[in-house]
Amino acid sequence: MDIAVAGAGYVGLVTAACLAEKGHKVACVDVDAGKVALLQSGKSPIYEPGLEELLKKNRERLLFTTDGAAAYRWADVIIIAVGTPEEPDGSVNLRYVREAAKQIAEAAEKDCVVAVKSTVPVGTGDQVERWIEENRKNPVHIEVVANPEFLSQGTAVKDMLYASRIVLGVESPQAEKVMKEVYDPFALPYVVTDRKSAEMVKYAANVFLALKISYINEIANVCEMVGANIEDVTAGMGMDPRIGSQFLRAGIGYGGSCFPKDTKALHWLAAGCDYELKTVQAAMEVNEKQKVKLIEKARTYVNHFCGLEVAVLGLTFKPGTDDIREAPSLANIAVLLEEGANVRVWDPAGMENAKRVFQKEVVYCSTIAEAITNADICFIFTEWQEIRQFDIRQYAALMKTPLVLDGRNCYSLDSAREAGIIYESVGRERVCPAEVRRRLLENVDVRNG
Ligand code: UDX
Repeated sequence: MDIAVAGAGYVGLVTAACLAEKGHKVACVDVDAGKVALLQSGKSPIYEPGLEELLKKNRERLLFTTDGAAAYRWADVIIIAVGTPEEPDGSVNLRYVREAAKQIAEAAEKDCVVAVKSTVPVGTGDQVERWIEENRKNPVHIEVVANPEFLSQGTAVKDMLYASRIVLGVESPQAEKVMKEVYDPFALPYVVTDRKSAEMVKYAANVFLALKISYINEIANVCEMVGANIEDVTAGMGMDPRIGSQFLRAGIGYGGSCFPKDTKALHWLAAGCDYELKTVQAAMEVNEKQKVKLIEKARTYVNHFCGLEVAVLGLTFKPGTDDIREAPSLANIAVLLEEGANVRVWDPAGMENAKRVFQKEVVYCSTIAEAITNADICFIFTEWQEIRQFDIRQYAALMKTPLVLDGRNCYSLDSAREAGIIYESVGRERVCPAEVRRRLLENVDVRNG
C-alpha cells in the first residue's frame, strides 16, 4: 500500500520504518527540514535500537519529505503521528493534529483513510473528521480511524513489529478492511472497535500501568515500615497470572513523556464530564511524593545539604534512553541545588539533555568513579546496567562517607552489608553499619558548620 506518515518524531519514524519493513511504500512527512535532510542521508535523529538498520534496509520503500501536500495526495492511508503536547492545566494541545488534518483535507484527490496514532483525548477522531470536512477541497471520501500505539522507548521497533495487539477504532467496514491491509503483514491479533473506545484503550492501558507502579511503590513504603521485603513480595504477587510480574518494580516513581502526561490527560478528560477519577488522582499524588522520597531518607542522616558533595548516578527516566523528561532525577537535583549542595552527575546517555536544564550548576562526570570520589552522599535514580555492574565495594573505597541512596534497587542487601556502606533502597531493610554512621555524622557536622 501507499502510506503517508505525518510527523517524523519518535512514533512516526518507528511506524514508518516498520511499515516499510512489511513491504509498504511509505512517505514520512515532517515540517522540520533539518530533520528530513538528516533522514534522507540515512541517519536517524533519535536513538532507538534497530531503527537505523530498518531505515537503511528499507531505503527504497521509504521517502522523507517536507512536502505534505504531495505525500497526502499520493497515499491510500495517512497516519497522523504528530506531537500532542501537554497544556499547563493537563489538557492536550491538538494544534499539530489540526494542522495535519487541514493539510490532508486540502491535498486529498482520492478516497483515503486517515488513521490517528498520536495519543489524543477521546472524541478527537470526531473532531478530526469535522476539521477534514471543513477544509476538504475535492469530492472525495476521507474516513477517520483511531489507531493507538503502545511503543516504549528503547524497545519501540520490537514493540511495533511484535505488538501484543493492533487496536483499530473504525466507523465503517470499509475503513476496517483498508486498515487490515496495512496491518495484516504483521500477523498480530486485532481489537476492532468504534473510534472512541479505541481512543480510550490507549489512556486506560497507560494509566493502568501508572496505577500499578504507584500501587507497588506504596506497598514498598509499607514494607519498609513493617520490615518486609518488596522484592520477595512482588515475586509472590507476580506469579499470579491475574496480576502479572511486569510493572511491579518498586522505585522512585515513573517519569517519561507518557505516563505523567496521560494520567493528567485522563483525569482532565473525566473532570470535563464532572467525574473525579480518584484512583488516578491518587496515583499522581503518590508518584510526586515518591520521586523525592530519597531526599527525605537522606534527611534522616543530614540536617541539610548545604556544602555537601553529592553524587548523582542516573539522570534519564529509565535506562536505554537519553530522555530526561519528567525524570525523578530532575526534581531531586533541583532540591539539592536549592539547598546549596555541590552536585556531581553521571549518566551514560542523558547528560547532553541534562545540560539544557542544569548548565553550570552541576559537574558532569565521565565515569561513576569520578562522580562518587570524595562524595558525602550518593543518589541512584536510574537502574543503568553500568551502575548495577559497578563494584559496590567501590563506594566504600572512594566516597568520603559511603551513604548510598538507591531509588532503583540496583544492589542486593547482602552485597551492601559486605561492602560496609550505608545503603538505603526502596521497600527493603536499611543497611546501616554503626561505625559508618558515626563517621558520617562527624563529617556532616563539620561540613554543615
Ligand atoms: C510507556 C508505555 O509503556 C508505552 O506502552 C506507551 O506507549 C508510552 O509510555 P515509556 O514511557 O517509554 O512507555 O516507558 P516505560 O518503560 O513504560 O516506563 C515508564 C516509567 O515507569 C519509567 O520511569 C520507569 O522507570 C517506570 N517504571 C516502569 C517503574 O517505576 N516500575 C516498573 O515496574 C516499570
